[in-house]
Amino acid sequence: MPVSRRVAELMKGSSWIRRMFEEGARLKAAHGAENVFDFSLGNPVLEPPPEVVEAFRAALDEPAAGTHRYMPNAGYPKVREAVAEFLTRDYGVPFAADRLLMCTGAGGGLNVVLKSILDPGDEVLVVSPWFPEYQFYVDNHGGRMVAVPAGPGFLPDPAALEAAAGPRTAAVLLNTPNNPTGVVYGQETLDAVGEALRRASARTGRVIHLVSDEPYRRILFDGRRPASVFRAYGPTILVTSHSKDLAIPGERIGVVAIGPDCPDGAALAGAFTFANRVLGFVNAPALQQRAVARLQGLTVDPRIYERKRDLLCGALQAAGYEVVRPGGAFYLFPRAPGGDDLAFVNRLLRERILVVPGSGFGAPGHFRVAYCVEDREIEGAIPGFARCLRDPGA
Ligand SMILES: Cc1ncc(COP(=O)(O)O)c(C=O)c1O
Repeated sequence: MPVSRRVAELMKGSSWIRRMFEEGARLKAAHGAENVFDFSLGNPVLEPPPEVVEAFRAALDEPAAGTHRYMPNAGYPKVREAVAEFLTRDYGVPFAADRLLMCTGAGGGLNVVLKSILDPGDEVLVVSPWFPEYQFYVDNHGGRMVAVPAGPGFLPDPAALEAAAGPRTAAVLLNTPNNPTGVVYGQETLDAVGEALRRASARTGRVIHLVSDEPYRRILFDGRRPASVFRAYGPTILVTSHSKDLAIPGERIGVVAIGPDCPDGAALAGAFTFANRVLGFVNAPALQQRAVARLQGLTVDPRIYERKRDLLCGALQAAGYEVVRPGGAFYLFPRAPGGDDLAFVNRLLRERILVVPGSGFGAPGHFRVAYCVEDREIEGAIPGFARCLRDPGA
């Protein structure tokens, strides 16, 4: 067997999302893509704003020699300065360019951070439901992911996080706006988590890092303003990317930023730079770095996703689905009628509607709808969603 037992085992565990992908391909071949309603992937439907294409052109046209060569593993100093300046304004705390690493998307950044802070057997607490890749990222670096159920409204439960922390806890990994629930954590929630982690760190005698995964930070609805995790807790590391805010996930560009009050920031920055190199990323893509330096603060229009949320969430609620109304990102996480998410996802498949069962996110009894699709796909799926609720056995 050419594939390691470990990878074979992990691949089996990730089979739900793969299965939906394969089902989607099969249904599209059989019925035509326009007759399949695919809500299985968080791939943004929007094109990047025109400024993005212009910035790529301008970066390509830069006259200086050597622009395609290797660079410092943490990224171009000038780009890191531009990003530090923006993050300082955005989060209301001072960021330094030398505590910042340009990375290959948030996924790359999370792997850099976890490689740098985990010893074998160390634990990372995540709030369930969680983004499925977390379990693999933690496993990549010999860690153990520990799921802590969310409290009401899918918000993190500070007391439960505090209770779950032990001597092996190296980090808590939070994600807001959240995939898969679309829930946004406000400042009060973050402050309560910060308090809980301060107490837990004092008890365990180890600094527990808060790793804040925020690629959806700028996709907020109903006039919400983003909160600042750095104001809530000192030992915080931000991981983010432009996959969703600029709608360029294929370009693989992101940032890791160490908070100004994070102890041993210089040592961490050195470790991140080393990890970025030896994980084989070497440095984040050069052209992308130079382009996004010109684009700090730019975002796709979140009102487009907000309208899609209104359309779908409104229709599902009117049909009788129980769903927490999301405040950002582009996901819904309704309760599966009847409680069996796998059975209900299969029922939706008979309407040619593809979603992902909550079991894939550590939260059985729900399902995830990624509504970053065209309006006509949402409109086309609404009658099928309603039929499934009226007649779950059909
Ligand atoms: C919560 C969360 N974190 C990280 C990522 C990875 O993002 P990137 O494309 O920047 O690697 C995603 C992508 O969907 C995500 O939903």
